[in-house]
Amino acid sequence: MRLVKVIEGDTELLVPEHEKGPGPRATDTPVFYNPAMEMNRDTSISLLRYLDPRGMRILDSMAATGARGIRIATELEPRAVVLTDISDEAVNLILHNSRGLDVQVHKQSVEEHLLANQYRYDYVDIDPFGTPVPYLPVALRFIRRNGVLAVSATDTSVLCGTYPKKCMRVYSAAPMNNWCRHENGLRILIGHIAREAARYDRGVRPLLSYYDGHHFRTYLRVVAGAGKANESIRKLDTYRFGDIDWSLSGEIGPMWSGDLSSDDIVKGMLPLGKLTEDILALWRGEAGMSPFFYETSTLARHLKQPPPPLKDIILRLNSAGYLTVRTHFSPTAFKTEGNTETVLDAFRG
Ligand SMILES: C[S@@+](CC[C@H](N)C(=O)[O-])C[C@H]1O[C@@H](n2cnc3c(N)ncnc32)[C@H](O)[C@@H]1O
Repeated sequence: MRLVKVIEGDTELLVPEHEKGPGPRATDTPVFYNPAMEMNRDTSISLLRYLDPRGMRILDSMAATGARGIRIATELEPRAVVLTDISDEAVNLILHNSRGLDVQVHKQSVEEHLLANQYRYDYVDIDPFGTPVPYLPVALRFIRRNGVLAVSATDTSVLCGTYPKKCMRVYSAAPMNNWCRHENGLRILIGHIAREAARYDRGVRPLLSYYDGHHFRTYLRVVAGAGKANESIRKLDTYRFGDIDWSLSGEIGPMWSGDLSSDDIVKGMLPLGKLTEDILALWRGEAGMSPFFYETSTLARHLKQPPPPLKDIILRLNSAGYLTVRTHFSPTAFKTEGNTETVLDAFRG
């Protein structure tokens, strides 16, 4: 394996030689490293910094090169950092990258490790190839009270409705491949995690959730108690989509209908590396908005007229008293408190 030096944040790492450029890369290297996930790791650092990690025990359970856990140990001052991976090559590289740092490294699966270290971790990171579903039970069961569970999912085509039968098998939910597919997918993922947590009398509270082109990511506070679990389950809903809008109680879902992110968290997080002020501004605008958004291209098709500039629609709706914001799910879409009639009026100008 040919290794190259990279610097992420304040941390220098040796990683397998990789193709540069955006998007996920097919990799035949024995240890996984995706430079396009740097923003994902920058976000972990920014979020943990806001949460104050000093008393926290952190588990980077699928560490690969160790990039995330080593950055957390280097750039923050948590109480403890443990990195695990099932691959020999990965563990050797993590040991090399973490020389001189006060971290523990284990060649163990996340399942084995959490079973052996029950209720030890305040933060557990699950960053698998594809779906996180197989690893959720052990993580939800054995994370500490009020711990933070961070989950990535790269099976976006399943969650977004390209393979609806597979989504039903894996997530017990019906997706839809429409203009809102990325938000549907993220909400199906969180809905599944909420149902899985409820089996262990635990509820979930999203701190930050987003889609970024080739993966979903959600950070959830896992809260203990049957009441909290019931509260989370009440936030599951199904929806029906029409050509341009949606209504409650339909065939899509079940999915999480509550907030995707906490207002306090996104307001408190600071930009870092690839996590820019622009991205944070989008997340901040959307926090607290109801599910789903209007897409200008579908509205244009529906009304058979070219779309006005997005900023004009947003201005018109806000001036009419309906809070309206851009969404990170699509650069040509908006979320609004206005109803479809109001939106169509604003679109017509
Ligand atoms: C997508 S990579 C992780 C990337 C890494 N977190 C990063 O930020 O660069 C997935 C890693 O999980 C490891 N893995 C797969 N199954 C595992 C399991 N059950 N427990 C622990 N690690 C596992 C793989 O060997 C691989 O290194």
